Amino acid sequence: MPLVSTGELVSAAQADGRSVAAFNVITLEHAEAIAAGAERAGAPAILQISENAVKFHGGRLSAIAAAAAAVARASHAPLALHLDHVESVELLHQAHDEGFGSVMFDASKLTYEENVRATADAVAWGHERGIWIEAELGKVGGKEGEAPLDAHAPGVRTDPAEAAAYVAATGVDALAVAVGSSHAMTERTAALDHALIGRLRDAVPVPLVLHGSSGVPDEEIRQAVASGMRKINVGTALNTAFTGAVRAYLADNPTGVDPRKYIVPGREAMATTVAGFLSLMG
Ligand code: G3H
Ligand code: ZN
Repeated sequence: MPLVSTGELVSAAQADGRSVAAFNVITLEHAEAIAAGAERAGAPAILQISENAVKFHGGRLSAIAAAAAAVARASHAPLALHLDHVESVELLHQAHDEGFGSVMFDASKLTYEENVRATADAVAWGHERGIWIEAELGKVGGKEGEAPLDAHAPGVRTDPAEAAAYVAATGVDALAVAVGSSHAMTERTAALDHALIGRLRDAVPVPLVLHGSSGVPDEEIRQAVASGMRKINVGTALNTAFTGAVRAYLADNPTGVDPRKYIVPGREAMATTVAGFLSLMG
């Protein structure tokens, strides 16, 4: 199936009151597992490659992007390719040539004024090329290389009035909001502020995005979809599943050396996890 775009998938989800799940791709096996999980669930999905994953690949985007795109095109499920948590303008500017239809430009570390300026520039660049741009306001903590952040501390969550002004000033196509989730959680114990999600949905004219969804329990995700979250980002849960299965295989087979033997159960565990999250999208 040809690649679809994140914008198309999120707009369709918005129209139907559903959400679309976006999964982080680090290796080829992540992309294969996402495609397999989406086919099993009969649902669309977004394959997203973060700036940190690009760093893991030596700062080179091309090989992992081409691999993810090839897996997506060979799939029977509608899949989109998205560049995630991009702080580097140089990386942003590679998106178009590398086949990405969407980018999350992350200026959330900057002050509000600097964030608006940098994001408006990214949106202008993207829209000239037909690229859908997501941005973040508020602080979803737990990002790699950052000190842990209390998701419930005052000033961390996204303010609805400020979010409305931010969307008007930047022209972004979707907004990632801080509503109680945090990145890189390996236990699903996060409690979301559903009243705030509802207020943000009413205040902001673009789709809302939930980051750090690995730590959010099933029922909280279902409620978040019902309250207006339209893109649900999942990364760590795939790694937890993969590493758990690999660890179990190696514990049972301590002398094995063929990576295919332990990567197969690891990849399968990720596909099961993907299908599980996709079943929550409404
Ligand atoms: O942008 C990526 C997501 O927010 C992934 O977060 O690894 O905590 O699921 P997670
Ligand atoms: Zn994120």
